[in-house]
Amino acid sequence: MLELARRRLGDDTALHVVNLNDRLPFADGAFDDVVASLVLHYLEDWGPTLAEMRRVLRPGGRLIASVNHPFVEHLAQNPRHNYFTTTSYTSEWTFNGKSFPMILWRRSLHAMTDALTSAGFRLTVIDEPQPDPAARELFPEDYQDLSPKLSFLCFVAEAPPSAASSDG
Ligand SMILES: C[S@@+](CC[C@H](N)C(=O)[O-])C[C@H]1O[C@@H](n2cnc3c(N)ncnc32)[C@H](O)[C@@H]1O
Repeated sequence: MLELARRRLGDDTALHVVNLNDRLPFADGAFDDVVASLVLHYLEDWGPTLAEMRRVLRPGGRLIASVNHPFVEHLAQNPRHNYFTTTSYTSEWTFNGKSFPMILWRRSLHAMTDALTSAGFRLTVIDEPQPDPAARELFPEDYQDLSPKLSFLCFVAEAPPSAASSDG
């Protein structure tokens, strides 16, 4: 991931590897936006991570997050699966021919929105994106297959504006 990021962003961008269960190595209010792409669903407890993301955002800053859509895994379970419990499941990922078990956490849509608002965010967008139209020509089979299917859920959530800016 770091190699990919370095290729896309060039040498002038600071890149850090962090564990999102830990305190982030950044000052309060350091960022306009936090982008959390397909990563929150690896965390059992979103509370401490969202609190950290909120801390490093400037007042009025945005968290832009995508996760696996919680209905997909629920519908793949047996019919007695309790949608409302947060449960782990394992998915096999293959890199360079080697297989790794990845533990993911499935939680309800309500558990997600509750975690965001409990961390002090104001939800401004909930989206269920379909493939980018550019994918129609690049990956025609995948595009046809994925367009009608639930895949991901995206959120935009704002850190509250400072008292001074909300007065003005
Ligand atoms: C599905 S990949 C998404 C990668 C990239 N953000 C993207 O959208 O293409 C999930 C990433 O989450 C990272 N990850 C999983 N648990 C993490 C944790 N506790 N702290 C930091 N990163 C974690 C994995 O190392 C992996 O790079």
